[in-house]
Amino acid sequence: MHQTDMDYDSDQDSDIRSTTDFSGMSVSSKPTTVIDGSMRSASPAPSVLSFTSSFREHLFKEEYGRNLNAYSDVYKLPADEEELTRLDEQHNMLISVMGGKYVAPMYEVMVDDTPGEPKAVLDLGSGSGTWIMDVVRDWPNCTAVAVDLIPLQIPSEVDDINLGLEHFYGDFNVVHSRLISYGIKDYHRLVDQISHVLRPRGLVFFMELDFHAYDEHDRKIEAASEFDYQPPWWSCWFRLLRFAIQNNGGDVDAAPNIIKWVQDHPAFEEVVYKDFFLPIIPRPRNPERETPAQAQFYQKVFNDLMAFHKSCRPLLLGSGIPEDMLDDLDRRCLQESAEGRIPQFTHIECVWARKKANVDEEHTK
Ligand SMILES: C[S@@+](CC[C@H](N)C(=O)[O-])C[C@H]1O[C@@H](n2cnc3c(N)ncnc32)[C@H](O)[C@@H]1O
Repeated sequence: MHQTDMDYDSDQDSDIRSTTDFSGMSVSSKPTTVIDGSMRSASPAPSVLSFTSSFREHLFKEEYGRNLNAYSDVYKLPADEEELTRLDEQHNMLISVMGGKYVAPMYEVMVDDTPGEPKAVLDLGSGSGTWIMDVVRDWPNCTAVAVDLIPLQIPSEVDDINLGLEHFYGDFNVVHSRLISYGIKDYHRLVDQISHVLRPRGLVFFMELDFHAYDEHDRKIEAASEFDYQPPWWSCWFRLLRFAIQNNGGDVDAAPNIIKWVQDHPAFEEVVYKDFFLPIIPRPRNPERETPAQAQFYQKVFNDLMAFHKSCRPLLLGSGIPEDMLDDLDRRCLQESAEGRIPQFTHIECVWARKKANVDEEHTK
């Protein structure tokens, strides 16, 4: 039996909700090992850029006071130390939300059962690399590959996923794709490509944000247009964020569509959907009934949101949103959070599935 490291106590007072029942998340702990990033497919369609240290200075550019990747016109969140720290902390927060590091089928898939063929895991848009490093710690014999627009502290492939994953076809038992839709032009195509990247009975895991704010009844907060400048202010900020991501070519509507794309794809089976509403501004809290774990969790979510808010500034300014307007909106959001009168939530959607044992690869292309 695996241990779980839930540090969030999900009793009825909690303000994180999910629309689906869920169990089976668990966490294992194993000794640390060195990541093996040397695995590189010999397919005839290599990535355009593989990392060497001399490339490092060409991989970043400064915009609006933050360092961004210099490689993608689509993904405009920072790629600096501050952002990597944010992603590390967000990873811990997401473990609390999910109740563990991995979905249950991961343990089945990662069993070392094929002599001479170590299990291979691909993390798409790995950010600070916290998830893939956990995998390597927990399954020291696996081969792990991290792909991102920026080099990690671990061996990784610097590559733009939008250029295609053909060079990985047939190479992996697990593909992990978490919170990368801001930088993906065509997520539907990505889902199809992942179906080819996976080995038979492989596992894919997706998690994406839908970039809308929701009210306390899980209803989307609608507006007449994306530029409707009125409260609730967090909802207004999310509308501008959607506009900015879309403006750069990112796939803002991936989150609600992944389930359909996966279910309709002939290569996948055992499809599971799970979603969460995370409090931007929680419902009025009752400190007397709140456990220390819950209070800590709210703080984690709030810290993550504030750091995310800050990280999105170059993206928003770069999309033509005037600085004085953004400053004003930031002030209003902060004030709204401090007042706590209008509960608002973000919506995270997760899908995981197995690849069928027998798939006619030609037929699914
Ligand atoms: C919000 S971070 C999430 C990081 C990580 N998946 C996690 O959940 O902690 C998104 C990451 O995806 C990477 N990314 C976005 N679009 C990409 C693309 N087209 N190709 C490669 N990496 C991309 C970014 O560089 C960034 O590190």
